[in-house]
Amino acid sequence: MRIAHVIVAAGALLLSACLPGQVSDQSVGIASPVGPVGSGAVNLSAFTATVYPVVKARCAGCHSAAISPLFADSNPSRALNALTQNGKVNLDHPDQSRIVERLRRDFHNCWSNCNNNSSDMENAVIQWRALLDAAAAPTTPSTPAPPPSPPGTARKVTVSLLVPSITPQSSGTAAGDFTTMEWSLNNSSDTITPELPNAVFRVDIQEFDAYTFRLRNPRIVTTGTAIYVRDLRVAINGTIYASDNAYTTIAQRVPTGTSGTVLSANPMVMLFDDGRGRDSLALSFELLQAD
Ligand code: HEC
Repeated sequence: MRIAHVIVAAGALLLSACLPGQVSDQSVGIASPVGPVGSGAVNLSAFTATVYPVVKARCAGCHSAAISPLFADSNPSRALNALTQNGKVNLDHPDQSRIVERLRRDFHNCWSNCNNNSSDMENAVIQWRALLDAAAAPTTPSTPAPPPSPPGTARKVTVSLLVPSITPQSSGTAAGDFTTMEWSLNNSSDTITPELPNAVFRVDIQEFDAYTFRLRNPRIVTTGTAIYVRDLRVAINGTIYASDNAYTTIAQRVPTGTSGTVLSANPMVMLFDDGRGRDSLALSFELLQAD
């Protein structure tokens, strides 16, 4: 668990636990995170980017004004309060959120297939949580900031490549297929380090859900010369976002060989702009040189 800064709405639990004859409500409300994560502003923007569009599209007919809780209120801030203060979302256990259970178990106003709809809702909650984790990461002591570049050295940046339109979609599941994107680190169209013969960078990619790409196995294959690489960032449509920081702690030597060296075992989930076939990715290295 990377965020400790969440408050359990204990009051809601006590209330539901103490009333005789009531079915106990297992859901645990999570109030706006406090501390470094945040500010309600971070939580509000994460909610607005994930769960809010779903409830607004699917639940507003009743839960924007007529029927409490008003978590699809036309004002996102009021909608967020209605959701969290009534304990209808559980950011630690997204599958236990009432807004998910109502669809999966109660078959309550599904818009097509309750099973699929509940998964869509659950994925939106998972993504909400991921955005909070990403926003918290820079201030988490266990993920130290990469060392600053020596003064006067510019980062090495590759060309932008289009995310292939054939990129598989995993619908938010842990599994799912990936396709591989490949950058040449030394050819004429991409002269970031011309002294590195026969070196390529590969990464597996899938469209994780309606909002994000998932990358895994960033790796370098070099057959001409060993390489030293440090601090990889991935730009989307020319912009590097601070939250896309899973690979900034990379600092290692890549020996020559044809099978390649995986630089990190961690996957990276990053928000996209328009999705596969439309967004382009580029790589930026703090250091990439013959070693
Ligand atoms: C046609 C009207 C209608 C729509 C659309 C609707 N609801 Fe409801 N909802 C109700 C009513 C009525 C209640 C109160 C009675 C009850 O609990 O069933 C309620 C209560 C709830 C509650 C609080 C009670 C509990 O069990 O936690 C949640 C959560 C909820 N709805 C989720 C949703 C979600 C998520 C959607 C959109 C996918 C949605 N509802 C769409 C009518 C609706």
